[in-house]
Amino acid sequence: MCGIVAYIGGKAAQSYLLEGLKRLEYRGYDSAGLAVLEGGKLNVVKAVGRVANLEDKIEDMGGFRGTIGIAHTRWATHGGVTEFNAHPHTDDRNGIAIIHNGIIENYAALKTYLEEKGHKFQSQTDTEVLAMLIGELYAPQEGVDLEAAVQAALREVTGAYAIAVICEKEPDVLVVARKGSPLMVGVGAGEYVVASDASAIVSHTTQAFVLDDYNVVKITRTGFRTSTIHNVPVTSKIMQLELELQEIELGGFSHFMQKEIFEQPKALSNCIRGRLNMDEGRIHLGGVGNFSKELSKIKNIVLTAQGTALHAAMIGEYLFEDLAKVSSVAEYASEFRYRNPIVEENTLVIAVSQSGETADTLAALQEAKERGALALGVVNVVGSSIARETDAGVYLRVGPEIGVASTKAFTGQVAVLSMLAMYMGRKRFMSADQCRDLMKDMERVPGLIERICEQDARIKKITEKYTHRENWLFLGRGYNYPTALEGALKLKEISYIHAEGMPAAEMKHGPIALINDGMPAVFIANRGRQYEKVMSNIQEVRSRGGHVIAVATEGDKEITKYAEDVMYIPDIPECLSPMLAVVPLQLMAYHAAVLRGHDVDKPRNLAKSVTVE
Ligand code: M6R
Repeated sequence: MCGIVAYIGGKAAQSYLLEGLKRLEYRGYDSAGLAVLEGGKLNVVKAVGRVANLEDKIEDMGGFRGTIGIAHTRWATHGGVTEFNAHPHTDDRNGIAIIHNGIIENYAALKTYLEEKGHKFQSQTDTEVLAMLIGELYAPQEGVDLEAAVQAALREVTGAYAIAVICEKEPDVLVVARKGSPLMVGVGAGEYVVASDASAIVSHTTQAFVLDDYNVVKITRTGFRTSTIHNVPVTSKIMQLELELQEIELGGFSHFMQKEIFEQPKALSNCIRGRLNMDEGRIHLGGVGNFSKELSKIKNIVLTAQGTALHAAMIGEYLFEDLAKVSSVAEYASEFRYRNPIVEENTLVIAVSQSGETADTLAALQEAKERGALALGVVNVVGSSIARETDAGVYLRVGPEIGVASTKAFTGQVAVLSMLAMYMGRKRFMSADQCRDLMKDMERVPGLIERICEQDARIKKITEKYTHRENWLFLGRGYNYPTALEGALKLKEISYIHAEGMPAAEMKHGPIALINDGMPAVFIANRGRQYEKVMSNIQEVRSRGGHVIAVATEGDKEITKYAEDVMYIPDIPECLSPMLAVVPLQLMAYHAAVLRGHDVDKPRNLAKSVTVE
């Protein structure tokens, strides 16, 4: 969603800020803006649309040489997509500028209070309210400097925020703070780069620290001081960023989504490396080791997530029941958090999230914890809010995912959930030999995905035949019912084609009415327990004029009699097959979007991480 970059140091801030904003473009946004302090004066520039528009505007103005500044990409929540609503926002008295990610929930009450004090607002945003509030409290002659004013203002707000603030009257001070929205400070030689995401920092420094909730950091060119909003000093621990610059660059691919699909063999190798202990016939997961006893007592599992991560969680539901024999349910985090969920004794909640910042998933996790559940995270981004909130967890280790359409994170999530299910299975009914057999198949997955990717040109050709169609169906059963949901989500989010995914058996209960001549119906029809049943469903679609595109097991000749087009995947035990079956669907969605002329990495209205509910 929104992105934050801020700079203080000895060089012109402008290039740091614009480069940082470009690195954050993948998160999704609709407008951008920047403020640079120069000669004691605040220069604020905003533009609707791409960062390139902002860059053009700044160039037309002759550019800025100031060495302190803040910049932002906005994804509209309060108020439409206009320059007025874009950040930075300023107060009306002291030359204070602020950028903000998150939502100030009590902004309406604060606005009324500030209007009574005579403040005039220009935008419809909650952020401008925060700018005015800091300005209202700012009283340097009475000892309330920028840092103190920010602390005081944040004591008044409810909601989530990551903010960066500068002020004309304190040109050598940058104040940043966080609650609920991610923010980190990169520590360079005589300079600091603040960002909501490490990708905007790594090209300048690999030393950084993450702000905890309620931390306020005052940064000058010579050092920084961290405190709480109540001004209690805090020690920030500087860490080494693991992110490599090449991981966040295209490296010869046309889009990040394409790069990440093809990266899956390597990503999954990293994900499983060191976790399959063949000698002992057991799974080694360092992140949950301390909870081994508690895990062996678990009676119920609730997997919670949103979007693609929910589809992985749904596969987890099958995995835990099959391999660990523990009753499991996967739930939309957004629903779980607002129900009155019954969390019985010995319940495990597993939050699945690539970013680790999805607001609903975080809130569902907190709700379950409060009701006594043991909380595990299956997260990609190290140190993210969900990773920090859980009792224990397993990182995906698939590397940064930049494409808005999640691909390698999905296969990574399924891989981790498979390993977790085996880990728990070994504590119950699974023998070392059974586990070993499955681990051997797991080890084959990266190589098999590579083999599927070799069919890319064929998959593109198949896709070309159907990209003019506006309605598609994705159907699967068992483990590959969630894969069908994922195939439909991939297609709709980047190609804007309407697609519905469902269990193949559900079709007869209504959706079959949609099938007309030539309608594409993608079936996941690999060999498995329900193969024959899927074949019957295929016939039902064909006899109504639908065009069947099947994902089938290599060597299946029968399927060619019933499907117009077939994309093959290698044979593998059913419980691991979603990691293979999803790959042709990812490639199809990618090609459909490119063929329809869409910007695959910046799909309309979408954000990479959804930090508001
Ligand atoms: O970061 P998370 O995995 O928690 O994100 C959850 C969803 O927002 C995400 O999977 C979304 O559905 C993707 N755009 C799907 O490609």
